[in-house]
Amino acid sequence: MSVLRRIPVLAAGLAQVLAAAFGLALTWSLAGTLEPGLLRGLALSLQCVVAFAFTLLFRLPSWWLWIAVLFPLALQVGLSLDNLPAWPFGIAFVALALVFSNTARERVPLYLTNRATAEALAALMTEKKATRFIDLGSGLGGVVRALDGGGRIARGVETAPLSWLVSWCLSKLSGRGTILRQDLWSTDLSQEDIVYAFLSPEPMPELWEKARREMKTGSHLVSNSFAVPGVEPDEVWELSDRRRTHLFIYAIKRDQEA
Ligand SMILES: C[S@@+](CC[C@H](N)C(=O)[O-])C[C@H]1O[C@@H](n2cnc3c(N)ncnc32)[C@H](O)[C@@H]1O
Repeated sequence: MSVLRRIPVLAAGLAQVLAAAFGLALTWSLAGTLEPGLLRGLALSLQCVVAFAFTLLFRLPSWWLWIAVLFPLALQVGLSLDNLPAWPFGIAFVALALVFSNTARERVPLYLTNRATAEALAALMTEKKATRFIDLGSGLGGVVRALDGGGRIARGVETAPLSWLVSWCLSKLSGRGTILRQDLWSTDLSQEDIVYAFLSPEPMPELWEKARREMKTGSHLVSNSFAVPGVEPDEVWELSDRRRTHLFIYAIKRDQEA
């Protein structure tokens, strides 16, 4: 069960396989007694309901419930459309996998820091007299490019192949910032003044331990939207953007060092 909770895509797949078994059992037991179209509709409804129930049982986050129901419906619609070319789906699948490869493994999808937040981070760097900045999981590299220059050195690390490639090219073309194809967990934080993360609730406890171990006294860990559970931030900046972005700011102090 803990494996399923750690790798939700596995649990979601298992829910669909189990639900398909229910659907097939229904089809076999009622074959010949009902009109085929009606039987297919019943089997599909059962698949959705059972997949929903297993998703609940596996205690996956609520958006997986939508996926549990919509996936069989979308599959049915796709199969019922004749002469649909397969290649656009193949390309879309590969592109999504190359951008969202960290979603299944790390539970961190791609969503981007907005301009107001990048400006707030620049103001924070000025206030803290910080010169070195790193974005852990830099996505398309927008924050890195926005912050690099004017006496600031900004870097980003990213593992999703397509996001890394796009941000690396944009960084080279604009001459702003450095993007590394590197796992955030193997990135050394000891030289950074500001370490920025916009990830998800999942990695925050482990990230805090890493920050405490590696970051120097006087530096700051800044998390967009996701607080470190059980740790009081030194400052919380609430921005007046549409998202009402919260920046949780943790000052690294001597007594926190390992
Ligand atoms: C929510 S996005 C934030 C993107 C960017 N920091 C921004 O604010 O615009 C999180 C990014 O972290 C990346 N990521 C997740 N786990 C990672 C890891 N272990 N190492 C490097 N990047 C990772 C994801 O691929 C994704 O691009």
